[in-house]
Amino acid sequence: MTTKTDFVQVTDLVVEFDGFRALDVNYFSLDRGELRVVVGPNGAGKTTLCDVISGKTRATRGKVVVDDHDVTHWRDSAISALGVGRKFQTPSVFDGLTVYENMELALPGRRTWWRTLTGRPTWEQQRRILRLLDRVHLRPLVREPARDLSHGQRQWLEIAMLMVSGSRLLLVDEPAAGLTDHETMLTAELLSELKGHHTIMVIEHDMEFVRRLNSRVTVLCAGKVLADGSLDQVQNDPKVREAYLGRGKQGQ
Ligand SMILES: Nc1ncnc2c1ncn2[C@@H]1O[C@H](COP(=O)(O)OP(=O)(O)OP(=O)(O)O)[C@@H](O)[C@H]1O
Ligand SMILES: [Mg+2]
Repeated sequence: MTTKTDFVQVTDLVVEFDGFRALDVNYFSLDRGELRVVVGPNGAGKTTLCDVISGKTRATRGKVVVDDHDVTHWRDSAISALGVGRKFQTPSVFDGLTVYENMELALPGRRTWWRTLTGRPTWEQQRRILRLLDRVHLRPLVREPARDLSHGQRQWLEIAMLMVSGSRLLLVDEPAAGLTDHETMLTAELLSELKGHHTIMVIEHDMEFVRRLNSRVTVLCAGKVLADGSLDQVQNDPKVREAYLGRGKQGQ
C-alpha cells in the first residue's frame, strides 16, 4: 500500500548470497522525516537492508522505492544523487584535512578533482558549513586536522558531512559502537534533533542508546521483520525475547 508520506518503501524483498537468504522482507517503509531504529541479532540482515536501499547490494527479488522512484535496478551513485546518504561504522573522513576542509569536500558536486581544485564555496555554503558544525559541537575545532578528533567527534563530522551533502535520507550503521557514554548520549541527542529535517534509519545494538532515541523500532531476525513498535512493545514481545535469548544475545 503506497502512501504519500513514505520516503522509502521495500516490498517482497529477497536478497540472497550464493543461495543463502540474508533478507526476506514482505514490507518495510520509512515515513518522510521519521527516525527509525533497526535492531536484531548479529547476521539478522540489518546492514544488508541498508545496502539494498543505498544500491550497494542488488535485490534478488522484490522492489525498493525511494522518494517515489523505483530504484530497484539503479546504481548506487544514482540513488545517492536522490539524497540517500550512508554512514558506515568506521568514519570515512580524510585524516589529513581539517574539519572544515572535510565539510567543503562533502558539498554537493565537489567530490571530483576538478571541482575541488577550482572555486571556493559560496558565502552561503560557508555559512551552512559553520552552522552544521555548530550543530554537531565541532565549531571550535574547525581548523583542526580530522586525525586529532576523538572517535565520537569523527562520527559527528561524518554525520555533518552527510547533511551538507544534501542527503535527505541518512542510513546510519551502528553510530554508538566504540563511543564513550558521554559521546553516546550526545550522538543520540544529535540524531534526535535531526528527526523531522531528515529521514533517518539507525542500526544499533546498544539498547540504552536506542531508548534515548525514543523512536519506533523494527526488529529483524534471520532476514525477516520479527516485530515493530515502541522499544517497550518490542522488548515485551515474546517472539523478540525468544530470538535474542535463543542466540544468547545480551541487550534485551
Ligand atoms: N556480501 C556477502 N556475501 C555473503 N554473505 C553475506 C554478504 N553480506 C552479508 N552476508 C550474510 O548475510 C547475513 C546478514 O548479514 P548482515 O551484515 O546484513 O547482518 P547484520 O544484521 O548487519 O549483522 P551485525 O549485527 O553483525 O552487523 C549474514 O549471515 C552475513 O554473513
Ligand atoms: Mg551489520
